[in-house]
Amino acid sequence: MITINEHYEKLAKSYLFVDIARSVAKYQAEHPDRDVIKLGIGDVTRPLPPASIKALHAAADDMADPATFRGYGPEQGYDFLREAIAEHDFRSRGVQISADDIFVSDGSKCDTANFQELFSGNQRIAVPDPVYPVYVDTNVMAGRTGSFSDGRYADLVYMAGSGANGFVPPPPAEAVDLLYLCFPNNPTGATATREQLRAYVDYAREHKALILFDAAYEAYIRDPELPHSIYEIPGAEGCAVEFRSFSKTAGFTGLRCAYTVVPSTVTVWAGDGSPRVLRDLWNRRHSTKFNGASYPVQRAAAAIYSEEGRAQVRDLTDFYLANAAIILRGLERLGYTTYGGVNSPYVWVDAGRPSWDLFHLLLNEAGVVTTPGAGFGPAGEGFIRISAFNEREKVEAAMDRIVTAIGP
Ligand code: MLT
Repeated sequence: MITINEHYEKLAKSYLFVDIARSVAKYQAEHPDRDVIKLGIGDVTRPLPPASIKALHAAADDMADPATFRGYGPEQGYDFLREAIAEHDFRSRGVQISADDIFVSDGSKCDTANFQELFSGNQRIAVPDPVYPVYVDTNVMAGRTGSFSDGRYADLVYMAGSGANGFVPPPPAEAVDLLYLCFPNNPTGATATREQLRAYVDYAREHKALILFDAAYEAYIRDPELPHSIYEIPGAEGCAVEFRSFSKTAGFTGLRCAYTVVPSTVTVWAGDGSPRVLRDLWNRRHSTKFNGASYPVQRAAAAIYSEEGRAQVRDLTDFYLANAAIILRGLERLGYTTYGGVNSPYVWVDAGRPSWDLFHLLLNEAGVVTTPGAGFGPAGEGFIRISAFNEREKVEAAMDRIVTAIGP
């Protein structure tokens, strides 16, 4: 008899964005003439940068010619991309990351989901609250979280964000082995200063813990004082893994490309206390379970590091940041307290009522889809997230409708 992994039964019935899609589908069925504007899931709407399109076409031609055809590539990614990443995302910012530390993949969701499987089942885990649900759900599946009650998993340590700490919670008061961090943050849009990141790095070093740092939104940082990478903090090269994505940077949500940085200097330990090189473990996992992102996609990703590609990515991210500014202005007119939306494509709104109530109010009265903060964890209750990923006229129309529907 085939029996299931019973840890799955501790999960919420479905993934947050599936629940939202169901509510929207129901509303749409009841109001077939209503044009619903989606500012819910963080999915880009603008086309790929022209430099990536050109590279995709050229790569298709390579695949059509026996002389340049590529079959399986290196599981870790092609050198042309790994070198470009190391140079432009790290060395140009004074951070010494080698191309060998970079593992190209088909998405950060998978990488942040999969990384935990390198560690033993009894590891103590800390997650930010509110949190990108993937960090939690994958540890639930792996059996590390205990049971769920009152909105919490018994064995997880929640680092609670709030208006008071600007949604940058301090490191846990107790010792944990693995910490997930995300800055600029999904869902709150909060960013962390160097000093705030240093506190996490110091904590990890003190406790021999590992930081999994999700930097999928770093391309939205405009404040020159804010760090883009955890490796800008001395010591992080010994205790942190960083996840980056081309999705929100260059519009790759439908194309799929991301990478994970695992410096050779990060040490982890076997049960008997003997040291191991984390990069070797991830390399073993990656080369066993993954056959490399596709060649044309990696060419398209590498193209964003050309001079024209960099300018195009800047334009794309500026476009969504301008949307975020429109959202912030509309909410200010309504007197809402907001967070994020600057150096981040997400606006986090104090709903002044239960999250799902404001979600349904905005859907029913304005035909606008947002994301209820409660879906991101207990500290998200009472908030909603509004995503800046949409076309300009839709964002403007959404804010006009919201102001009309719920304004004074
Ligand atoms: C979100 O809306 O939170 C994002 O789309 C999640 C993701 O990137 O997987």
